[in-house]
Amino acid sequence: MSSEQFDTVDIIRTKRDRGTLTPEQIDWTIDAYTRGAIADEQMAALNMAILLNGMNREEISRWTAAMIASGERMDFSALGKPTSDKHSTGGVGDKITLPLAPLVAVFGVAVPQLSGRGLGHTGGTLDKLEAIPGWRADLSNAEMMAQLADVGAVICAAGAGLAPADKKLYALRDVTGTVEAIPLIASSIMSKKIAEGTGSLVLDVKVGSGAFMKNVDDARELARTMVTLGKDAGVNTVALLTNMATPLGLTAGNAIEVEESVEVLAGGGPSDVVDLTVALAREMLTAAGRPDADPEAALRDGRAMDVWRRMISAQGGDPDAQLPVARESETILAPADGVLTELDALAVGVAAWRLGAGRARKEDAVQAGAGVRLHAKPGDTVKAGSPLMTLLTDTPEKFERAREALADAVTVSPGPVAAPPLIIDRIS
Ligand code: URA
Repeated sequence: MSSEQFDTVDIIRTKRDRGTLTPEQIDWTIDAYTRGAIADEQMAALNMAILLNGMNREEISRWTAAMIASGERMDFSALGKPTSDKHSTGGVGDKITLPLAPLVAVFGVAVPQLSGRGLGHTGGTLDKLEAIPGWRADLSNAEMMAQLADVGAVICAAGAGLAPADKKLYALRDVTGTVEAIPLIASSIMSKKIAEGTGSLVLDVKVGSGAFMKNVDDARELARTMVTLGKDAGVNTVALLTNMATPLGLTAGNAIEVEESVEVLAGGGPSDVVDLTVALAREMLTAAGRPDADPEAALRDGRAMDVWRRMISAQGGDPDAQLPVARESETILAPADGVLTELDALAVGVAAWRLGAGRARKEDAVQAGAGVRLHAKPGDTVKAGSPLMTLLTDTPEKFERAREALADAVTVSPGPVAAPPLIIDRIS
């Protein structure tokens, strides 16, 4: 006879039959799964029932709280300054965290940015920064606090102690087709952000082919769910819904995204990367009580670049080092004269991944120099035979599969079509 408080099969049946789980059942489920008392196949069945039948607001909130309670909670109150963080649901060419964290820190708002490595077609912030010679992602909590006090911004790996239930659950969802459940995504992201202890949070919820959420209605529901979870936990939270139908900027890869981020910090860079960096900086600064700050000026006058250099050096990186360059390249040419009206984010992300910029399994290594460099963006006029993209890799046998991924990625039309806005909506 088991000494457990609940029977897992009863809990699975309740969700399967569209019932509501009690707070006690939810607390027990998360705790029992974390300590190994619920088997993976049972949790997989429950996740699938949640994906199909959903959870109500109280269930999502309790599920999130139980995941937070599975690990440690960080506390930055000793810093004596406001804290703000940004989370993106993931996209292609999304390097915004790199210029954004130092930019916000310029104004005395500390940015504790716990980031991850990439899996699949979306890149990971840590993989990008690891292209910088010497840079180290793993910091102790004490090192993180010291860097926040001194430099004001830190981008590092989340320690194993933060929401361990989510680590186990996310790995299971990844291999059981249950990542795309809004209650599970929202609770996964928000449990880590609330446990991290940030005072305010700006969510960048991506919409389009290169994102988890392919349509605006789903993205809005995810954003509303996360904003509610954040506010209920006392974290000042807002969300922007932003376009991920086409890659951000002109690079998708690791070293080449660092290079583009440094261009933005030097006051240049592609306009969409600059615009989104500034928009998210304004949201973070406002949420942290600094609505008067002018992030555009801090990009122009070098203050953001100064913080970047100090942030990279503090983690062992050399901000002046030559970044790795891929050994081989191939160019893809425009198929016709006209206006580039579509450049599919998912296809570019998959191509960059296949070239070696991403990994298929957690333990795979990434190539720092691999990726895709774009020479045109939707709205640009192109000439037949002019370069559209350059594919970069150390391993030329990867070109063929990358080209296959890009086979239907590009549409060139005789005339312009209206470009969708970069920022689609704001949820607060
Ligand atoms: N990112 C997360 O951290 N969790 C999810 O479930 C999806 C994206």
